[in-house]
Amino acid sequence: MARIAVVFGTTNGQTAKISRRIVEVLRTEGHVVELLDTRAGIPDAALVGVQAVVIAGSVKMGKFPRQLIASVREHLGELLGIPTAFVPVSLSAARKNSASAQREVQKTTARFVAETGLNPGVIQPTAGALVYSRYAFFTKLVMRFLSKMTGGDTDTSRDYEYTDWNAVDDFARQFADDTQKLFGREFPQRLTQHRELLVRA
Ligand SMILES: Cc1cc2nc3c(=O)[nH]c(=O)nc-3n(C[C@H](O)[C@H](O)[C@H](O)COP(=O)(O)O)c2cc1C
Repeated sequence: MARIAVVFGTTNGQTAKISRRIVEVLRTEGHVVELLDTRAGIPDAALVGVQAVVIAGSVKMGKFPRQLIASVREHLGELLGIPTAFVPVSLSAARKNSASAQREVQKTTARFVAETGLNPGVIQPTAGALVYSRYAFFTKLVMRFLSKMTGGDTDTSRDYEYTDWNAVDDFARQFADDTQKLFGREFPQRLTQHRELLVRA
């Protein structure tokens, strides 16, 4: 069992949904997990004692939410010393057969690394959603236009979710497993018990 934090930045909610699913899987695998929304800011002490972190962020105009970048930079000291995974959420990630879309995913991820100074050990690009029902009038028009340009969905009377939940579950289980292997060894626990015996004696 390890203490894990899932830190996320979202605009329209899909990354929050993905983050909650990751938390669910990590908890099912036996870890103690905290979910941190960067829109509310991350308290100074929030990552103290945390042994691994998953960071999820949605892409808007090629960029990740400002508060997510700021939070990672503020906590870089803690993050550099522990295993981290990054989950960039975008529509480009859904277009697996498009070389240009995949290049865009790589470019935005490289920008995250350059802007934060954090190079996560695992990168899990994840397809987001097209939620026409939540977009303001102008955003709806732009998103419909962009979607049409790339052969995507254009019926603005409904929403489209492209997230592959099986892939999210597989990623979270693998991260849970890797973290368990790193921190679930018997040795540190035995050491703690031994110390307690010494104190009692
Ligand atoms: C205004 C706007 C700009 C977007 N820009 C991009 C983009 O540059 N590249 C991309 O792949 N997806 C883009 N998307 C799609 C989002 O990444 C996708 O909808 C994602 O699910 C949003 O996650 P969220 O609901 O957590 O904010 C954009 C969406 C909106 C509404």
